[in-house]
Amino acid sequence: MKTKKQAGSVLSLSTRAIHGNKLYAFKGPVATPIYQTSTYRFESSEDAIRYAKGDPTVYVYTRYHNPTVHDVEEKIALMEGGEAAALFSSGMAAITTAILAVTKPGDEIISTPALYGGTYRWFRDELPKSGMTVKYVHPDHLDQIENLATPKTTIVYFETPTNPTLDLVDIAEVVKRTRRAERKIGRKILIMIDNTFASILNQDPFKYGIDVIVESATKYLGGHSDIIAGVVVGTSDFLKQVRGLAKYHGGCADPFAAYLLTRSLKTFELRVGKQNENALTLAKTLEKHKKVNRVLYPGLPSFPKYHLAKKQMSGFGGMVTIEVKPSKGRSPVEAAARVCDNLKIAVNAMSLGGVETLVSIPVYSSHIFLSDTELKHHGVTPGMIRISVGVEGIEDLIGDFEQALSLA
Ligand SMILES: Cc1ncc(COP(=O)(O)O)c(C=O)c1O
Repeated sequence: MKTKKQAGSVLSLSTRAIHGNKLYAFKGPVATPIYQTSTYRFESSEDAIRYAKGDPTVYVYTRYHNPTVHDVEEKIALMEGGEAAALFSSGMAAITTAILAVTKPGDEIISTPALYGGTYRWFRDELPKSGMTVKYVHPDHLDQIENLATPKTTIVYFETPTNPTLDLVDIAEVVKRTRRAERKIGRKILIMIDNTFASILNQDPFKYGIDVIVESATKYLGGHSDIIAGVVVGTSDFLKQVRGLAKYHGGCADPFAAYLLTRSLKTFELRVGKQNENALTLAKTLEKHKKVNRVLYPGLPSFPKYHLAKKQMSGFGGMVTIEVKPSKGRSPVEAAARVCDNLKIAVNAMSLGGVETLVSIPVYSSHIFLSDTELKHHGVTPGMIRISVGVEGIEDLIGDFEQALSLA
């Protein structure tokens, strides 16, 4: 994958995020203008013909392309080390369009089961209507990919870390097993990762030979809990297919959301770096708290896959999950709810990745409709609280959790 270089060295993530390709531009605005327009004025009617022949400098209609959106796409491609990127109106639009762009009825997908709920339900309820099947491989038995693959296998899809236990999937192993499966079935399989939870600061999937990154830009890339957006990153050829389908499915990004995103990218490295730092300190502190049974955080030596985290992540991320120890006479979920309801700084809300610390109870939110057996299978317990750690002062956050936990 191409990475922007200057004088032989790779530019830093922040430099790529702030400047995109226009490092030496000295004319025009410093900030990206918002092209809040549905359509574009042609210089002459010849422009319509030039566009039809594929001239990328001719803009026609914002569902096809928009300069503000293009600015973000270029920056994200540079940040993630991909040849090209496409921005969408949501993470789900990005995921569904990327998958549908390269599949047809009868095709099969192999996935790990711990997925974002929207993706999991789309796999379960919608893809079969188009004659597609998803087979699941246990993250600790990735050798099964070779057995599950058939000549109809088009995509291997997975997430790591996963929600809410932060369990990890070995990226290098997925790639190794999939490439072996390709040799067995005699065709290319596209490997797609949802990199939302880690983000590019903490995990670089292309380094391991992943083909496509999909991501909810609503989370760490956006980082301020004020936009819904999604992104697909990969080769130019793949992105051409994705854009072709996106024109019909219509999940194009709004120019104003793209502007907010381009603004957010400038502080991405600072924000996520601080979130990593705060999350590690909070996890270490809460691990010693008497009202906490367990802390799940990839950066803690007690984390079941700590060694894998150290191998494949360059930072451990901003997501921490704790299991509350209830006071006598109180159920675990009641105790978790009392903690969430009594936090004064952290906000009880369902998203993640923003500068403000958010908390949610998985059995009341992302995992509400799962049976007890399914919850057990996913390792989710009623006393769990998922924390998306923000950039607030760490002493304030620790104090907030301590006072709320005392009421558990
Ligand atoms: C891991 C993951 N992938 C995808 C999505 C979907 O993104 P969006 O809500 O932007 O459509 C989410 C949303 O929470 C998510 O957590």
